Amino acid sequence: MKSALTWKIIAKCSTTKARVGKLTLPHGPVDTPVFMPVGTQGTLKGLTTKQLEELNCQIMLNNTYHLGLSPGQELIEELGGSHKFQNWNRNLLTDSGGFQMVSLLKLARITEEGVEFQSPRDGSIMLLTPEHSMSLQNSIGADIIMQLDDVVSSLTTGPRVEEAMHRSIRWLDRCINSHKKPETQNLFAIIQGGLDIDLRKKCIEEMVKRDTPGYAIGGLSGGEEKDVFWRIVSLSTDLLPKSKPIYCMGVGYAEDLVVCSALGVDMYDCVFPTRTARFGNAITSKGSLNLKSTKFAQDFEPIEKDCNCLTCKKYTRAYIHMHATRETVGCHLITLHNVSYQLRLMNSIRQAILNDNFPSFIQQFFKELFGGKD
Ligand code: GUN
Ligand code: ZN
Repeated sequence: MKSALTWKIIAKCSTTKARVGKLTLPHGPVDTPVFMPVGTQGTLKGLTTKQLEELNCQIMLNNTYHLGLSPGQELIEELGGSHKFQNWNRNLLTDSGGFQMVSLLKLARITEEGVEFQSPRDGSIMLLTPEHSMSLQNSIGADIIMQLDDVVSSLTTGPRVEEAMHRSIRWLDRCINSHKKPETQNLFAIIQGGLDIDLRKKCIEEMVKRDTPGYAIGGLSGGEEKDVFWRIVSLSTDLLPKSKPIYCMGVGYAEDLVVCSALGVDMYDCVFPTRTARFGNAITSKGSLNLKSTKFAQDFEPIEKDCNCLTCKKYTRAYIHMHATRETVGCHLITLHNVSYQLRLMNSIRQAILNDNFPSFIQQFFKELFGGKD
């Protein structure tokens, strides 16, 4: 199908499946492997778009479900889309909405038609169909849009997993048929099939025939064993075309970013770094620090000595500790650091692949992470 991107592999690791790529989207270039921070409602909570630009963030995520509720389709259409709405001139990706509904609203019911849910506004029954999700995503105008998929928890077993996989293929076809802007918006398919190798293979085989501009691996990172998670990711990167970007959805722990990049994944998103910041947790190369803990009350070091973010350059752990529980500035400073950490990690991964020393980077990374906290 039509695409609005170019994708070029710049370097490949000689010992792992890792690769560095240049993805060019309608709102500019994206260096991969990339971590995409999540701004659910059209804002990355606690940061301005200018700050995100200063961190060299090239792409962020919005959610169709949230923007569809507020400001709503009509208003976003009138405003000329989500880039304008949030004053963000770089790339955007929207998730289709189904996953958020199923994960947020326990009351969601899935039928062949779509995802049925109770509106949090007035309790009325609403239906999100593949066609409606595409229409909303066309109005929002993100550079990458996602198909509506039937998502089951990675811990679900039995016939429901197979049903969801086949339905996701049928919904992909409905998304392709109702997508109005393939010249400016890239529709990605989402591979489902739970933890079953054969179902995943079948899903990949069918979705690759649809020839979408990129592919996502969905339905993972939901509490399954790491070993099983890695096997599914590795199988997917083996079977998906090497000429298209591969996006692993909902993945954002530093160790997963390192391992999945070695397995050949190019894109990631997760609410973890921003959400955990709001609970007072700062991510560091030695693990996370809960700055609410009184042990930081007189700690005059920065969160991380060699971090070049504004938080680490200007503020001490003691200052952030004082504000972490009571003031928004505490959340803001930790969010800035955490997003900066994630982007810096991806930059180091890319550099290591370019220098062809990714295996020793991985060794060093894990040595630091598990070598003890300070
Ligand atoms: N975010 C994390 N996992 C998924 C998934 O399987 N599908 C969608 N649409 N979004 C996700
Ligand atoms: Zn920092």
